[in-house]
Amino acid sequence: MFKKVDHIAIAVPELEEAIHLYKGLLGKEPEHVEEVADQKVRAAFFGVGETNLELLFPTSPDSPISKFLEDRKGRGGLHHLCLQVTGLESHLQQLKSQGVQLIDEKPRIGAHGKKIAFIHPKSTGGVLIELSEENKSCH
Ligand code: CO
Repeated sequence: MFKKVDHIAIAVPELEEAIHLYKGLLGKEPEHVEEVADQKVRAAFFGVGETNLELLFPTSPDSPISKFLEDRKGRGGLHHLCLQVTGLESHLQQLKSQGVQLIDEKPRIGAHGKKIAFIHPKSTGGVLIELSEENKSCH
């Protein structure tokens, strides 16, 4: 079942600069900053009502975020949106059986220790969509 928009992710070429910018825009500090080794990113989260803005900065030249920024000549921009679901594995099986192209056929662990999986933009009208499931032991 789909629950809510968990976060909207923005790729940024300078993390401290972007945190400063969003502190000004939102009038608060990020609630959480975390390095996600698996995705080679450092992520800063700002809560906005029921959802979050996630600033994503690459920690390695072979990070997917480095590639994204290169393709945009170094400019940041909207990178993906994340929908929170329950029963992530069965969601993925269902989508696969419908012919949806998945980047991750099995969940992996993302920020906050949550199970996540990405759907290919070819199957979503050009938008990278992440699915995530709350890790109940964590929060
Ligand atoms: Co995300």
